[in-house]
Amino acid sequence: MRVVVVGQGYVGLPLAIRAARRGHRVVGLDTDARRVEDLKCGRSVVEDVTAAQLESVLREGTYRPATGAQAVPEFDVAVIAVPTPLRDGVPDLSHVIEAGRTVGRHLREGALVVLESTSYPGTTRTVLGPVLEEESGLRMGRQFALGFSPERIDPGNRSWTLETTPKLVSGVDAASLERTADFYAGLVERVVPVSRCEEAELAKLVENTFRAVNIALVNELAQVAHDTGLDVREALDAAATKPFGFLPFAPGPGIGGHCLPIDPVYLSWWAAQARNGRGSMLIDLAERINAARPAHVVDRVRSHLATQGRTLAGARVMLLGLAYKPGSGDLRESPALDVARLLQVEGAQVCAADPFVEPTAVGGLQLVSVTDEELAAADIVVVATDHDVFDYNRVAARAAFVLDCRGRLAGRAATAIVEQL
Ligand SMILES: NC(=O)c1ccc[n+]([C@@H]2O[C@H](COP(=O)([O-])OP(=O)(O)OC[C@H]3O[C@@H](n4cnc5c(N)ncnc54)[C@H](O)[C@@H]3O)[C@@H](O)[C@H]2O)c1
Repeated sequence: MRVVVVGQGYVGLPLAIRAARRGHRVVGLDTDARRVEDLKCGRSVVEDVTAAQLESVLREGTYRPATGAQAVPEFDVAVIAVPTPLRDGVPDLSHVIEAGRTVGRHLREGALVVLESTSYPGTTRTVLGPVLEEESGLRMGRQFALGFSPERIDPGNRSWTLETTPKLVSGVDAASLERTADFYAGLVERVVPVSRCEEAELAKLVENTFRAVNIALVNELAQVAHDTGLDVREALDAAATKPFGFLPFAPGPGIGGHCLPIDPVYLSWWAAQARNGRGSMLIDLAERINAARPAHVVDRVRSHLATQGRTLAGARVMLLGLAYKPGSGDLRESPALDVARLLQVEGAQVCAADPFVEPTAVGGLQLVSVTDEELAAADIVVVATDHDVFDYNRVAARAAFVLDCRGRLAGRAATAIVEQL
């Protein structure tokens, strides 16, 4: 089939390459001309697509990156995978609408359009559908099929990939659902039909909200345990031995990435719109607890310095890890960056070690290696992101004081004073 994938980022690029490898003729559209140039030269822009995979589909001519609305060829299937951020705390669907206009202008009778971007219930049917109808003059359901299939990609996860993770599929009517299911059945191992787009849209938000709320719970528990002199991680590990009815989550310096800080806000915002201002008290509270974590890290650093009669001004703080999750260089919404910024505001000299992060991506922050000298020179070392590549025994041996936000130094022999967040 002739497939157009609009948006060549973390979601759209792996999908486009997968479709090309499965024999479709794919055009990957993106408004970012530099990204398209990189892709044309075989430079992958996301870690889940290797340069070899990209080069192979480019060579075979089954994948063509392109920019500009003029580049849209005739298609049988168009997939939209563009950002759905927040603007001033409110869902911003401008990219989806813009992509919808581009697709709508080239939409032919009988084609299938699928939205993959995460959004609140009703987006596919009441936001994207009307844009496609207006631009094409065709009716959704009757003259073109329209579906929603949320992406569950976990960048960097080697076990659960696009192919192996069950894919939810839905449509604005039964025929659209069937068309959407058929398309994805050729790309992934298992599709899971959901009867309406609205429930599939809600399911995606629920998955990430579930994580965000549970992380907020353990983050608050960590504060309670600290204030009362208990070891929260030992308690959580003990609770996790229960073989049923419990799922483990770990406390940390806050939540990051594209999904967890954003998707719950979409859900609560939508609930408030749909119910006369009554959003979700639990989600809103979880957001507040998680958002306050970087400031809590800084409070703990400040408290330690106060025990030595010092303040943050002039103190040297070394952050281990800047990315929002281990094993990745992804800085999006990373709480470690908030910690760095808050420390700098109070006059601390902040340096950071993160072998996965491009130095150009972190302006205003000195990047260092984890050497004995750097560890010894720091007044405080904060383990913000627990990359496996860090030598935690060396950290425990060489640093003076470590605030361990990830529990990686627990149980290690240490000459450093180690506090768990
Ligand atoms: N990254 C993840 O881990 C992840 C996981 C699941 C779902 N999602 C969701 O998928 C959607 C896309 O996220 P992403 O992480 O791939 O974003 P991204 O920023 O990595 O990529 C989006 C791409 O879309 C392009 N773009 C924006 N507007 C466009 C337009 N009108 N036409 C063509 N291209 C356009 C941008 O230039 C960018 O390259 C979001 O709704 C996100 O919430 C992301």
